[in-house]
Amino acid sequence: MSNPSLLILPGDGIGPEVMAEVRRIIDWFGTRRGIVFDVSEDLVGGAAYDVHGTPLHDDTMTKAQEVDAVLLGAVGGPKYDVLDFSVKPERGLLRLRKEMDLYANLRPAQCFDALADFSSLKKDVVAGLDIMIVRELTSGVYFGEPRGIFTEGNERVGINTQRYTESEIARVARSAFELARRRGNKVCSMEKANVMESGILWREVVQKVRDEEYPDVDLSHMYADAGAMQLTRWPKQFDVIVTDNLFGDLLSDLAAMLTGSLGMLPSASLGAPMANGRPKALYEPVHGSAPDIAGQGKANPIACILSFAMALRYSFDLGAEADRLEAAVQKVLAEGVRTADLMQAEGGSPVSTTEMGDAILGALEASL
Ligand code: NAD
Ligand code: IPM
Ligand code: MN
Repeated sequence: MSNPSLLILPGDGIGPEVMAEVRRIIDWFGTRRGIVFDVSEDLVGGAAYDVHGTPLHDDTMTKAQEVDAVLLGAVGGPKYDVLDFSVKPERGLLRLRKEMDLYANLRPAQCFDALADFSSLKKDVVAGLDIMIVRELTSGVYFGEPRGIFTEGNERVGINTQRYTESEIARVARSAFELARRRGNKVCSMEKANVMESGILWREVVQKVRDEEYPDVDLSHMYADAGAMQLTRWPKQFDVIVTDNLFGDLLSDLAAMLTGSLGMLPSASLGAPMANGRPKALYEPVHGSAPDIAGQGKANPIACILSFAMALRYSFDLGAEADRLEAAVQKVLAEGVRTADLMQAEGGSPVSTTEMGDAILGALEASL
């Protein structure tokens, strides 16, 4: 049998810096655990634009469709602000998500014990936190038509459309209920049914899927603005949150700060199962290209490393190896190893991106 295949797309800014650490970890699993991946690497975002004049070359899109899983660093940066909207780096990522039909974006927010003191919220609010945000990723206002900037009379108008079909809502709801069954069996669905028709439909469909297919799962509904408030007031009330593309984008950045830093949050973007039974999948940290720290060796590689752990779990049925990697991360944090984003401005001496990689590799080695 051939090795599982991985396409690596480091992208822009800190993307290549954090991905370099993931590559060392992939190599470690090959040499030390006999888990060998066929790894190929390609360009996405501004890096692809610089070479091809497009943020995602068709050949890269084809490769992404063919491999067992894609791993992406980050895209974007100020250098590309001047580009036409259609070729901005972010369009490359959005095309990958859309054409691979990766409708369920799993964004876990877990507070590691060692970081409970570091969150901007009180320790007892975040200690032990383990929630999963399931963000719809291929529809909603990100993709709805009509969209554009038009002229109306003597002024311009910018238009985006929030649009959801019943089947789009139902399939992401099923992902959330399936996950909940393997966790705390509780789903909270967030929308704004009080002001948006798409929110009314969202609420109805999620409830119907629950009643007809998952009567054993506890379901509640919350307006997304109240949800944001509750996430900061008492986040441990939640288990799985299911929400739309835009609310999910905002709420997952908010959830990142419960865990201490945006540099900690991984994600898995999953689609329907392929012929081999594995879901179409792209793994990416929640954070972006962090232009303010790019090129300085300061980036925290943990979000990207934990995204690879999610790949081990969700694409390759290697849950025990994912646990091993997550435990290694936990161990180095417990030992006090910190990149700059995990420290107060005034305190301590932070490690570099590579030193964090070294420490995690050391912990992996110690796990054998
Ligand atoms: P960002 O996530 O890049 O950065 C926000 C803040 O968090 C910055 O201060 C940054 O230094 C810090 N940060 C983020 N990741 C970090 C890490 N791993 N280690 C340490 N600190 C980290 O968001 P932004 O500044 O709003 O966006 C910058 C660019 O990234 C934009 O072009 C945006 O479109 C793009 N972006 C891309 C993705 C993606 O590729 N998935 C996600 C979000 C934003
Ligand atoms: C994310 C990012 C992306 C999004 C951008 C870069 C397209 O913010 O993955 O959270 O808005 O979905
Ligand atoms: Mn985002």
